Amino acid sequence: MSDAPLAIVTGAGRGIGRACATGLAAAGCDLALIDLDEAGTVETARLCAPQAVSVHIADVADFRLAERAVAAIVGETGRIDVLVNNAGISQPKGLLELTEADWDRTLAVDLKGCFNWCRAVAPVMLDQESGGRIVNMSSLSALNGGVTSAVSKVAYAAAKAGILGLTRALAKELGPKISVNAVCPGIIRTELVESLTRGREEELAGRIAMGRLGTPEDVAAVVTFLATSPTCFVNGEAIRVDGFQWVT
Ligand SMILES: NC(=O)c1ccc[n+]([C@@H]2O[C@H](COP(=O)([O-])OP(=O)(O)OC[C@H]3O[C@@H](n4cnc5c(N)ncnc54)[C@H](O)[C@@H]3O)[C@@H](O)[C@H]2O)c1
Repeated sequence: MSDAPLAIVTGAGRGIGRACATGLAAAGCDLALIDLDEAGTVETARLCAPQAVSVHIADVADFRLAERAVAAIVGETGRIDVLVNNAGISQPKGLLELTEADWDRTLAVDLKGCFNWCRAVAPVMLDQESGGRIVNMSSLSALNGGVTSAVSKVAYAAAKAGILGLTRALAKELGPKISVNAVCPGIIRTELVESLTRGREEELAGRIAMGRLGTPEDVAAVVTFLATSPTCFVNGEAIRVDGFQWVT
């Protein structure tokens, strides 16, 4: 068994999750990667070398799969130090286009998925003398209701706002052994938003004080700090990673 901290990243098959995984690997963590997409996740695992990595194909919306994967990870490594709840889907529909099924699936993946993994991992972290750190991927949409022209409409904004409530409640309940924080990215260049930002990059960058769209690495740098800095007194916080984006 390795002495390296063990970090779980959900939605690690591409985008922000992949950047979080490689960022945590560069910081010395071994990884357990969770995603629906096997090929993408195996590629992320390759990018995390030489750290030890296990790949678990699971839908984060399924609590039993979370329990099963956590048991397998603990059986293999004996520890879980970091949980990054990153998996998420968008539902770019306003209320009148949104079906009940759209709402249920978005909440199941984006919000319940977060609960599922916190619920499965927290007992392990609480049992460890060293505790643990949890980072939940929210969104700027949780704070501003979503940008009307982008991915972040009703169900997504509601789920991401729910993550902030979950984060604060868990930070109170799980402290002092476990810190729980959320990250709120603005517009980050990934496949999730590509079809909506294509051809509009300049216009969108004009609404961001930093003058550019974000990258997965911009988000991963903050996640890695929250997850691995030797000392961290940040807890129950929601950190915007948006280059100071104007609400539109
Ligand atoms: N890209 C942005 O601008 C942006 C902004 C704010 C917040 N976010 C959030 O960051 C996170 C990552 O976004 P991204 O842009 O990298 O997305 P992405 O679509 O590029 O990647 C998401 C990954 O999650 C996986 N995934 C989706 N549903 C899953 C499920 N049910 N179970 C397991 N894995 C699943 C996908 O297979 C994929 O590998 C999401 O929670 C998203 O809401 C993204």
